[in-house]
Amino acid sequence: MKLSIIGAGAVGTSCAHWALVKRVAQEIALFDIVPGLAKGKALDVAQSAPLFNFSGKIYGTEDFSLLEGSDVVIITAGKPRTPGMSREDLLKINAEIVKSCAEKIRLYAPNSIVIVVSNPLDAMVYVAYKVTGFPKEQIMGMAGVLDSARYRYFIAETLGVSPRDVQALVMGVHGDLMLPLIRLANVAGIPITELLSRDKIEEIVIKTKYGGGEIVNLLKTGSAFTTPGLATIEMAESILKDEKRVLTCSVLLEGEYGINGVFLGVPVIVGRRGVERILEIHLEPEELSALHQSAKACQELINALPEL
Ligand code: LAC
Repeated sequence: MKLSIIGAGAVGTSCAHWALVKRVAQEIALFDIVPGLAKGKALDVAQSAPLFNFSGKIYGTEDFSLLEGSDVVIITAGKPRTPGMSREDLLKINAEIVKSCAEKIRLYAPNSIVIVVSNPLDAMVYVAYKVTGFPKEQIMGMAGVLDSARYRYFIAETLGVSPRDVQALVMGVHGDLMLPLIRLANVAGIPITELLSRDKIEEIVIKTKYGGGEIVNLLKTGSAFTTPGLATIEMAESILKDEKRVLTCSVLLEGEYGINGVFLGVPVIVGRRGVERILEIHLEPEELSALHQSAKACQELINALPEL
């Protein structure tokens, strides 16, 4: 199996690192247009192979023809946020960058499954979908796994329990309108509403929504990368090993949840064929209406995109 990662910034490098640690592919290729950057980052990651007993091949390159033969291609290229910026502020500049990545994938790896990570996420997945012209099953965006991990972490932290035992999902857009579902969040099967007050839950929901922004404000020169990288590799692993995991991914909705033509985070079964099935779960009216707000936000971003 071959995994390619475009963009050797912090998130792309984190993806390469986790891919090696988790041995998700025998060949891991890191790409960047900046001379030397991908090579240097890949060399650093490759040198950890003896310590992690990884016997595959890992390399960096500026030669995009080496995308050929990729089973999964991850797009992390693009500018990160700096303090005071919303993910949406990155729309125009990152649309151009993701467009050029998608053109190369279309040319060299037409059968690959594509995972987009660049922000504003749901609009960038749409760009990759339009530019590659790939079937919708082959294109997905990473955000729900990250946002859900943050939600689970904050629940565990508040309760003082192991994060392993917390299950919860965040649906919708990767932005302030995301929807951490309270009704379905649980600790070893116990609804969080049994364990936490309304106010505490509300605090957790807000922390989850601004989890990425909090890190941007602290770092000042970039955004989160460790958990975004691992969240992306969870998705790649499920594809490469055909695990059929149920992960919240940004996928094209065509009527599901009464939403059409936008990419949004919903639970899906992820396997060798990419998005194998979208799970359309029952939502309470106020949850559904929040999801529709997310869809509207995503549509507005799509409308503001430059010519593709
Ligand atoms: C975050 C960025 C990656 O949420 O969107 O940290």
